[in-house]
Amino acid sequence: MKYFSSVKDLGNLHLALQEAKELKSNRFKYVELGKNKTLLMVFFNSSLRTRLSTQKAAMNLGMNVIVLDVNQGAWKLETERGVVMDGDKSEHLLEAIPVMGCYCDVIGVRSFAGLKDRDYDYAETVYNQFVKFSGRPVFAMETATVHPLQAFADLITIEEYKEVKRPKVVLTWAPHPKALPQAVPNSFAEWMNAADVDFVITHPHGYELDPSFVGNALVEYDQQKAMEGADFVYAKNWSCPGVSKLEDYGQVLSKDMNWTIDEKHMAWTNNAHFMHCLPVRRNMIVSDNVIEGPRSLVIPEAANREISATVVLKRILEDM
Ligand code: CP
Repeated sequence: MKYFSSVKDLGNLHLALQEAKELKSNRFKYVELGKNKTLLMVFFNSSLRTRLSTQKAAMNLGMNVIVLDVNQGAWKLETERGVVMDGDKSEHLLEAIPVMGCYCDVIGVRSFAGLKDRDYDYAETVYNQFVKFSGRPVFAMETATVHPLQAFADLITIEEYKEVKRPKVVLTWAPHPKALPQAVPNSFAEWMNAADVDFVITHPHGYELDPSFVGNALVEYDQQKAMEGADFVYAKNWSCPGVSKLEDYGQVLSKDMNWTIDEKHMAWTNNAHFMHCLPVRRNMIVSDNVIEGPRSLVIPEAANREISATVVLKRILEDM
């Protein structure tokens, strides 16, 4: 594997999940694989879990790791071609990327959506420049439209905790004070559609995700109806994806607290597990009681980020 941004990059998903299980029981088995290989993690945006879990995964495989926080200590980077660089940005990404490629063997990129220009974000302009100009294998650590390391960890967690062969999984929108990207729900939808689950998405009108990610999932606008009988409830906020009305792209259309997941909502389900990628705004997205309750999986999900990243880096190293 040279690039990782989609479930399709892993090939057979069943085999990838099997590999994750094996690596979790012996995470240092391939500690020689990454010897004298260097991972560069490039962050245009903040992170706790991705930073720590991906670094730990690289260490499991014996790699060296360099972390670059672009907005702290590096030159400010221009990302658009054709701009007269007379502002505060001292370097262009088109020079910076091949230079970064000189110092490492693999590059992970975190670059969130700007939420101003849908075409620019959905073209994955920044991530694709790394693919094109770094000369290195590249993987997504949450880009403008996808967060595959999170979705893979979420699926590993569902496999571990499911109590029926084909569980019902519900992705529900929940309110948030700020406009957030669609990367997490996009990837979660993509991965659930590829998994052996019954998948339902629920959100207020206007929050329709891009059809390329929704696929054949059932979209139910009535949150209670959607959650009835659910085995897993995955809550997440996202801003307007601009599918039905382009001018609303990136806007907060609703802060309706009736969508906040509390015990009343969880009582509609089949004693569902609660999931969220973190960080989470308590009592906006989910009540204290639900996130602290016995069916909450937020910590196991975060723990499995190390495993998803170990599988992905191992696959990349094996093909170098
Ligand atoms: N879930 C997740 O990616 O967390 P961070 O933003 O802290 O990396």
